Amino acid sequence: LRIAVLASGRGSNFAALLAARERGELAAEFVLVASDKPDAGALQLAQLAGVPHCVLEPKDYATRRDYDFAVFERIAASKPDLLVLAGYMRIIDGDALKPWVGRMINIHPSLLPKYRGLHTHRRAIKAGDDEHGASVHFVTAELDGGPVIAQTLLPIGAGDDEHALAERLLPLEHQLLPAVVAWIAADRLLLREEGVMLDGEVL
Ligand code: GRF
Repeated sequence: LRIAVLASGRGSNFAALLAARERGELAAEFVLVASDKPDAGALQLAQLAGVPHCVLEPKDYATRRDYDFAVFERIAASKPDLLVLAGYMRIIDGDALKPWVGRMINIHPSLLPKYRGLHTHRRAIKAGDDEHGASVHFVTAELDGGPVIAQTLLPIGAGDDEHALAERLLPLEHQLLPAVVAWIAADRLLLREEGVMLDGEVL
């Protein structure tokens, strides 16, 4: 499986994918890491791992739409089978992402459909939820709204603040994302009209 990654930040989820591959748990080749932030940790990780990487900065484009089309053009040139959003902090133009629906996944730190968007940990605590988690989903034009593939759950403790919660959730994200990518690498997962299918069964 040829994988391209879009990341804006430290890149610990990308690191988890690299580690899974190192352990022989992921039959994949990383063909590109692209970022909107020149200082993204994910780019350094790519450099260290010998993965091709590039930065495209929104400020160099007239519109968000122009930017998104340029990003996807660059990604398409690396011919990935799968595009993973691993901490990509931008909303993507619906027309730009359309050709990738079914071939693009995102990891989001909430139990979707709860808490799309930002500050998910804080919102879960504020709502008095007793559990929190992370979701991996297929990306559609609806922000954090595409069909969920898998989730990981975490109880919220009485003394939890958003930082504690984020810190405990992260290692679970690092298991969830490579597990889903491994399903895709093994051709076990598909997006169909009727929903997400794992081993031929609708989830
Ligand atoms: C993770 O919490 C992920 O769920 C969210 O952004 C964060 C990215 O962290 N989408 P990292 O850059 O992978 O360390």
